[in-house]
Amino acid sequence: MKVEQFNPQRPGDLVDPATGWVNRRVFVDADIHAMELERIFAQSWLFVGHESEVAKPGDYVTRTMGDDPIILSHSSDGQLRVFLNACPHRGTLVCRADAGNSPSFICPYHGWTFRNDGHLHSLADKPEAYKNKVDFDDYNLVQARVGVYAGLIFATFNEAAPDLESHLGNARWYIDMFFNRTPNGAEVLGAPVKWVANMNWKYGAINFAADGPHALAAHGPISRMAIDMPMEALVEIAKNGPAVRIGNGHGCIFVPGPPGFPDWTGFDPAMVPLYEQMLSAGQQGQLKTMFNGVMTVFPNLSWVHFPVTLSPKKPPINFFNMRVWQPTSAHSAEIWAWFIADKESADEYKEASLRLGIQTFTGAGTFDQDDSEAWASMDKGSRGTIGRQRMSSFQMILASQDDLIADFPGPGEAYHSTYSEMSEFGLLLKWREMMQAGSA
Ligand code: FES
Ligand SMILES: [Fe+2]
Repeated sequence: MKVEQFNPQRPGDLVDPATGWVNRRVFVDADIHAMELERIFAQSWLFVGHESEVAKPGDYVTRTMGDDPIILSHSSDGQLRVFLNACPHRGTLVCRADAGNSPSFICPYHGWTFRNDGHLHSLADKPEAYKNKVDFDDYNLVQARVGVYAGLIFATFNEAAPDLESHLGNARWYIDMFFNRTPNGAEVLGAPVKWVANMNWKYGAINFAADGPHALAAHGPISRMAIDMPMEALVEIAKNGPAVRIGNGHGCIFVPGPPGFPDWTGFDPAMVPLYEQMLSAGQQGQLKTMFNGVMTVFPNLSWVHFPVTLSPKKPPINFFNMRVWQPTSAHSAEIWAWFIADKESADEYKEASLRLGIQTFTGAGTFDQDDSEAWASMDKGSRGTIGRQRMSSFQMILASQDDLIADFPGPGEAYHSTYSEMSEFGLLLKWREMMQAGSA
């Protein structure tokens, strides 16, 4: 199918809610990318880090929000703060390290120093050079709003954005199943792994919101090895798993284990009583039968959780990979990926989970390579003069939109099958709403 002319005044029209067709310019057009940075990334709450990364006063990490560098700081007064990593004097990065612990940040250009709560502390030049004509209260680091849920730290520079709880909404029920399921909560296992992929960031966010049908074709061979399940069985369970359009663009799928799959497969058995203590019956029911759980929090935070074994002699262990899809151009994204564990879990379990995760879901991981190749080739096939005039199809929604699960225990709209495109298309509907905002 070919599309009519693109009206740059109404970019949201590129996604058609009624038919499930999406103009491929959404994924490859530089003007669309520039608009996304303003209309989505500068407006929305964005994930910037996990509390366990900045556990002590003085801890900081440097990150990116949209195309802006930021510092996430655990200030000496105990507050979590997020600053634009740009000197108020001329814009130089005031912090260059990925992570550290410091009472202050010193701009390397003219030597101005900022406390880790963002206040200008001192000037290398004598303030008298300004002859009292300058109000240095205007020279603190620019601060974003910060919100924390289940240890996940989000920030936005948008003063008008609704609070974080409203943004997350129903997603909190699902976030709790992964990050808030033991009394002490979750922690990151080390620093994030980062790599650059030749793809639009949305290919990843949509895939994790999530795309059930790709697993068979893209991951068939490696699944046979890592999951030890015949492909036909994998398709069958994927078709039977719910896809949830959570609301606000958030989406997830749960693929249950096949018949006979023991409850809590791949989990640390010592954690199960804690899950039973912390989670509702509905949340426990989803988690204990879960073979594969995949979710995206709009716009660009995702995670995947499932049991793998790379040795037929060893039982499967869950790995839990969380990531952000950082937009760097219409055709490239930086992927930052963390491995997550319940804090109370034994070190041996964390170590095994981390090892299996690195082997499967990182830039060099078996599953990620399958996906990255597909996403990069979608970019190649869609960016040409003819290619970008074509449409991408999410038309499985036409067959699925009335197929709701009436008694699903979680909030949002749950559809019967991960073979529905309903939850991933939900992310594009939120994209459409935000891109259309302000249009005539
Ligand atoms: S640019 Fe930072 S002190 Fe001048
Ligand atoms: Fe995949």
